[in-house]
Amino acid sequence: MKIAEIYQKYPVPPNLQEHMLRVCVVTEFIQKHWKGIEKLDWNMIYQAALLHDMGNIVRLDLENHPEFLGKEQKNIAFWQEQKKKNIKRFGTDDHKATESILKELSFNKKLISLIFDMGFANSIKIKNNNNWPVKILYYADSRTLPRGFGTLKERMEEAVSRRPLLAKIDDFDELVAASFEVEKQVQNKLDIPLSEITNKSIRINKKFLQIKV
Ligand SMILES: [Fe+2]
Repeated sequence: MKIAEIYQKYPVPPNLQEHMLRVCVVTEFIQKHWKGIEKLDWNMIYQAALLHDMGNIVRLDLENHPEFLGKEQKNIAFWQEQKKKNIKRFGTDDHKATESILKELSFNKKLISLIFDMGFANSIKIKNNNNWPVKILYYADSRTLPRGFGTLKERMEEAVSRRPLLAKIDDFDELVAASFEVEKQVQNKLDIPLSEITNKSIRINKKFLQIKV
């Protein structure tokens, strides 16, 4: 099945598709400039990037933030219906919804755990271990803002402005510090500065929609 078909089968709003495609092109940028001796399964990394937020529709605040839908705002009733259907099937927890969708699609445990290890709450663990696919995916997600690419600092600020309670969690400062450490670790494996990831230098590439999984 192609990624494009999966995005149709479990309808993913275009902005969320763009987010996952952006994370994927950051992983491609990292692959192109990888000088580490580790041989990584880049195809698996792409797949994880393209599927990591599949269930997010269950927590999209379409009532207060219809602008999230971009051009699809005119079809808001359709997306509200999709959200309702997904909540009914998978519940309101976006992580559980993503996991249920990936299990329904018979993805292997390795890919599913790769996706679940890449969250902000895991950043200390990500920094401390040697799991490069997770480090790369976590970092790529951390450079992706709602409407394009940004610095890690911009992404952290954006996340807090969207979810102010995030900054109140006990180990928030440590989690942020660990994220910057992960950035250094990834940087050390590349032949190009990570500051080269900008909206001018890289763009969404729809070729990834054709990947067969
Ligand atoms: Fe994401």
